[in-house]
Amino acid sequence: MKRILVTGANGQLGTTLKQQSLGSEDRWVFCGRNEMDITDSHSITSFMEKQSFDFCINCAAYTHVEGAETEIDAAHALNVEGVKNLVAACNEKQVTLLHISTDYVFDGTKKTPYVETDPTAPLNQYGKSKLQGEHHIQQKAKSFYIIRTSWLYSKTLGANFYSAILNKAKNGEPLMVVNDQVGTPTNVAHLAGFLFQMIKKEPEYGLYHFSDEQIMSWYDLAVAIVKEHQLEVPVTPSTTSGGGAVRPIYSPLFSNKPF
Ligand SMILES: NC(=O)c1ccc[n+]([C@@H]2O[C@H](COP(=O)([O-])OP(=O)(O)OC[C@H]3O[C@@H](n4cnc5c(N)ncnc54)[C@H](OP(=O)(O)O)[C@@H]3O)[C@@H](O)[C@H]2O)c1
Repeated sequence: MKRILVTGANGQLGTTLKQQSLGSEDRWVFCGRNEMDITDSHSITSFMEKQSFDFCINCAAYTHVEGAETEIDAAHALNVEGVKNLVAACNEKQVTLLHISTDYVFDGTKKTPYVETDPTAPLNQYGKSKLQGEHHIQQKAKSFYIIRTSWLYSKTLGANFYSAILNKAKNGEPLMVVNDQVGTPTNVAHLAGFLFQMIKKEPEYGLYHFSDEQIMSWYDLAVAIVKEHQLEVPVTPSTTSGGGAVRPIYSPLFSNKPF
């Protein structure tokens, strides 16, 4: 039996892991921000003193891409300093850290999907903070997996791209969606399944990409959602408006490290 601690447990990925862990033979402990604030090193160590863990899946992050442009310190506090706190605690307690990162560490100039060995060059503050977190883990963590994923959505949880499009379409609202950003949208349930496999198989430590395979734009994804639910609303392609966070125009992920 493995013992797994999940931080940021009330977010999209944390909630999905919680759902999928029901009936697991392993021992899962889920901590929301109130139980463990990763920006407070004492909060982490006092929790890890009380119980022993084999793995820590870090689902806690500053994920608001637009907000990070102005809340640079807040993004740094969570995506860099919070990660440093977790690395220190995991090293101390011999816990393997599974950390989630993003396709936004890339600049989008490549013409084929990004693999683990491609050079990074984030365009926005969110991507920069996530990359700094990655670098710290690679330099300091004794045992770790960094899993880069992209365009997470959930078919069952609220407040994400899938539910927003579906709700509007159900209300008969016409949709206008950007067609000039291309990626690999990833069902968060599939990412959770991948993390379960990692914990089970324990491949070589290091950096891995995981996303669903289909390459598409946000517009293509919206069309697919509307079609899946046999709704009739028109979906119109649009282009990204200026201002705000700059996003890579092409950031599909591919893994050269299957296990
Ligand atoms: N969403 C995407 O499209 C996407 C794409 C690529 C990679 N990722 C990465 O995937 C991971 C999971 O993303 P997600 O979509 O599940 O994010 P999410 O829904 O925004 O969840 C993040 C969680 O972190 C919690 N949190 C905030 N501050 C905290 C603190 N100081 N201590 C502990 N927890 C704290 C939040 O709690 P509150 O709810 O209380 O704020 C929230 O529950 C992140 O690392 C993200 O960067 C996401």
